[in-house]
Amino acid sequence: MDLLPRVLRPRAEQLSRDVEMVLAGLRGERAPPWLARDGARYGAPLVPNPQRSHDARALAQILAVEIEASDAVSLILRWPEAFPAPRPGQFITLELPEVDEGLRRTYSISSDCRAPERVSITVRRVANGRASTWLNREARAGMELRVTRPAGRFGEALETSEGAVVMVAGGSGITPLMAMLRSGLGDPGSPRAVTLIYANRSAESTIFGAELRAMAAAPESALRLIEVLEPSHGRLDAACFASLVDRHAALAEALGQRSTQVLVCGPPPMMGGVVEQLRGRGVDDEQIHLEHFTAGRTRAEPNPERGRAWSVEFVEGPDGPATTVVVQPGQSLLDAGLDANINLPYSCAMGGCGACMSTLEEGSVAMDEPNCLRPRERAEGRVLTCVGRPTSPCRLRITTGS
Ligand code: FES
Repeated sequence: MDLLPRVLRPRAEQLSRDVEMVLAGLRGERAPPWLARDGARYGAPLVPNPQRSHDARALAQILAVEIEASDAVSLILRWPEAFPAPRPGQFITLELPEVDEGLRRTYSISSDCRAPERVSITVRRVANGRASTWLNREARAGMELRVTRPAGRFGEALETSEGAVVMVAGGSGITPLMAMLRSGLGDPGSPRAVTLIYANRSAESTIFGAELRAMAAAPESALRLIEVLEPSHGRLDAACFASLVDRHAALAEALGQRSTQVLVCGPPPMMGGVVEQLRGRGVDDEQIHLEHFTAGRTRAEPNPERGRAWSVEFVEGPDGPATTVVVQPGQSLLDAGLDANINLPYSCAMGGCGACMSTLEEGSVAMDEPNCLRPRERAEGRVLTCVGRPTSPCRLRITTGS
């Protein structure tokens, strides 16, 4: 990693985390859900985290709500002036105290980023999903939502390359890819050949189906659309992906080129099967870019101690001030810290990016698994505050937003 140019390191870091997460899931590996420290001072300084987002949040007004499928809507937002324009492939995090205090959910931007004053996110209603159900049923034009700055590097590979593009989307995993297509990649006459493999449970639940078909059918379109519907093709897994490559010569040819970039976003089993096939066909890890769109995580194992509130000392930076907070049963370290107005870094809020990584100096923390922490980072006492809950009194050293 150190040999790479500085500008490429964050991307390589995130790619490496993503691939490790997917492969660990395929191997059925589970990290121990507990991390305990005995109170010794740990000398290793916090590694500067390239994924750390600013902590700025702002209100974004809903300008319109558009129905995209039987169970999905797009919310068109007036983009906060204080925020930078989003880039294709980025996401924002919504805070939804209307639904539940401390509830946060991350959604990819789905709109054309060349028109940054109106930004859309697309939300599929998931079973028992409090946030997605509320956004589908209750969100109305005129409401204001608290949102974080845009974050994520999923689309960066396309900004620094010129070859063909292969996209693989499952369900609402289409949203970040749609932003890329709408932002110029899918324009007629676009110089890059794009193949989109798009898997869905049914035609009725296919988000952006009509727009994508029109995009692919337009004169001089560079987009080749391959739809995979469960009733007729089965689930998009490794075997299904292999048969698609066998049947579509242009897809096989694109995957055989070192300049091709492959972007994958969808449910973890689908992503695992696709990555397995890509690697088996000699596609280099540097060509593969993954975005996890669903938490799909299991809570840390039940523990009698989790039923208690614990005091946690948050220490800001190497010599910064310390604030002691009582973390309620089931509450994450991130939620408790933000509620106490501590300037905690975070981005995805679901254990996938590493932006909230802090160092546990004393006590024990349970984390939801899987998450993107590496074995080395666990051994060094790093924890993710967004999916971490104390199981004893703790002291955490954090990096703060600038
Ligand atoms: S905010 Fe992304 S891992 Fe915690």
